[in-house]
Amino acid sequence: MSQLKQMDIVNFKLNQETYSRLYQQSINEPNTFWAEQGANFVTWFVPWQVVNDSDFSKATISWFKGAKLNVCFNCLDRHLAKKANQVAIFWEGDNAHRRQVITYQRLYERVCRFANSLKTVGVSKGDKVCIYLPMIPEAMIAMLACARIGAVHTVVFGGFSPRALRERIQNAGCKVIITADEGIRNATTIPLKKNVDAALSDITVRKVIVIKNSGTKVAMHSPRDIWYHELAYQQSEACEVQWMDAEDPLFILYTSGSTGKPKGIIHTSGGYLLYAAMTFRYVFDYQAQDIFWCTADMGWITGHSYGVYGPLANGATLVMYEGLIAGASPYLVWEIVDRYQVSIFYTAPTAIRTLMASGDAPLANSKRDSLRILGTVGEPINPEAWRWYHQKVGKGKCWIVDTWWQTETGGIMIAPLPGPGKEQQKPGAACQPFLGIKPLIVDENGKAVVKETQGFLTIAQSWPGQARGIYANPARFDQSYFSQYKGLYFTGDGAFQDKDGDYWITGRVDDVINVAGHRLGTAEIESALVRHPLVAEAAVIGVPHPVKGESVFAFVTLISSNPWQDSLIPELQQEVIVAIGKLAKPDKIVYAPKLPKTRSGKIMRRLLRCIAADELDKLGDISTLAEPEVIEQLKAALAAEKNKLE
Ligand code: PRX
Repeated sequence: MSQLKQMDIVNFKLNQETYSRLYQQSINEPNTFWAEQGANFVTWFVPWQVVNDSDFSKATISWFKGAKLNVCFNCLDRHLAKKANQVAIFWEGDNAHRRQVITYQRLYERVCRFANSLKTVGVSKGDKVCIYLPMIPEAMIAMLACARIGAVHTVVFGGFSPRALRERIQNAGCKVIITADEGIRNATTIPLKKNVDAALSDITVRKVIVIKNSGTKVAMHSPRDIWYHELAYQQSEACEVQWMDAEDPLFILYTSGSTGKPKGIIHTSGGYLLYAAMTFRYVFDYQAQDIFWCTADMGWITGHSYGVYGPLANGATLVMYEGLIAGASPYLVWEIVDRYQVSIFYTAPTAIRTLMASGDAPLANSKRDSLRILGTVGEPINPEAWRWYHQKVGKGKCWIVDTWWQTETGGIMIAPLPGPGKEQQKPGAACQPFLGIKPLIVDENGKAVVKETQGFLTIAQSWPGQARGIYANPARFDQSYFSQYKGLYFTGDGAFQDKDGDYWITGRVDDVINVAGHRLGTAEIESALVRHPLVAEAAVIGVPHPVKGESVFAFVTLISSNPWQDSLIPELQQEVIVAIGKLAKPDKIVYAPKLPKTRSGKIMRRLLRCIAADELDKLGDISTLAEPEVIEQLKAALAAEKNKLE
């Protein structure tokens, strides 16, 4: 029996010494280790027959085969005996007059009512339900209601455009959409219902369930559209759970890849829940009295794993805020921390940099004495932002957990575990692999590199939270993650280990960019740009941005004989807003007479990055460039652009 099993897991602190011992066990005897953790963290209805049946060479991942459980039961029902009156969610509306305090008992009742409502409109096990909601309690309630009856949710971030929403609804085959009249974010409204109507203009779904949020008048198309309050009011507040196989899908979440359309990443019930619960517990050193605030929107994986499933599986108390903290008053952010006595705060470097830019006055206005752990996720954190977070926000007393992971990994993979000497923290380092995670940094031939050498980050062993596939496209799953290096999962990130063995993430090595913590595929933005009738080709790169980390920079060529006009810029930006959403809008669009390509026709983005950054001395080897004069033309185009601005 492992050490964790014998201890009271609520009071257990994973210190460095125990970590090292457990880590060795988790890597050397993974099946024994995960079987013990499965028993510690999850309540199963039927035990498993096979712990792990994963095989990277076949792109098949399977954990706890034969077991049955229900994720919603694990997040709610099993806590009721002891925690019925404990707060599950402190919800803070965008407008400070809208607040809710929801206990575990009340959350359970509201989830059951929602689950019964879904059943009434014909949703049953295996059906796909699209959730397109703002950050209101119903977003979490709808997810849990789906999990309760075995429906598969696919949450779409409210910032995505109608076209992007339609693409996801169609790909997943959703029959029911849950939305709201409007979202409210930082005092502006988002026309969610209108967007759904536009997305469904030429496709049919069974029902659109609409939650009254802002109270604005919206068009309701009978019999397709139904108000949630009208549907819910006759429903019971008790609902039997549907027992699910461990490998039944829990959700599909779309994320961007380096080519083509977004990928519908599939996560299943048993392994995902265990991994989300266990990483939440140890990476944030969660203790019974903690108040946890994860600022991520439910539309992203962080919102799924640490805004809902991980914390609730541990019976934690959460703070949920309707607005976007990067757009909120910086005073409000720290006021919320004080109001609810938040002890663990988890956000993205972009938000930290935005708050930092507001200066220290908002900090002086708050105490923040409750804070104990400060987490970051989604993009590399620059040392300056790290230090501000540590020294100013946390007053030098809080442990900073810089967590590296991905939509595909289900939960945190590499992070400095809280515990050892705080003075030794390394700003910007993701540090140590979580228990059971075996990173391997390799060169382009798949050979492990030595310490202090940059390479490609892969993971050498399966873990329970790993994605099981790409919806409706198993071949793409294999090709995206398992075909590059035999027997390894390829993350798409670069990394190195320092001399102490700590991991540092250096950023994406593929054609994915990270703008304000949002993962975007350059190919998706390029496809949007070439929809414009005058555009022949487009090449998109990410360029460094002081707040957003990266911003979108596009080069476009025009169909011959069309002259470039600056009035095209807003038109082209609009193409991207329509296809994806404002989050992908290029900050800069530059006319290029031609794009630099290899002789086989591949765009050399590396050269575009150097040209955009004015680093022509770093162009390196250009011998494969088909038309070397392109470089001079691009330089001239950029210089003309600069002159216009001056
Ligand atoms: O490049 C890495 C970056 O975000 C990518 C994953 O994006 P997504 O699937 O949207 O999930 C984001 C939230 C988990 C990674 O491939 N990334 C994530 N966390 C970090 C990071 N880069 C550096 N440091 C991190 N802590």
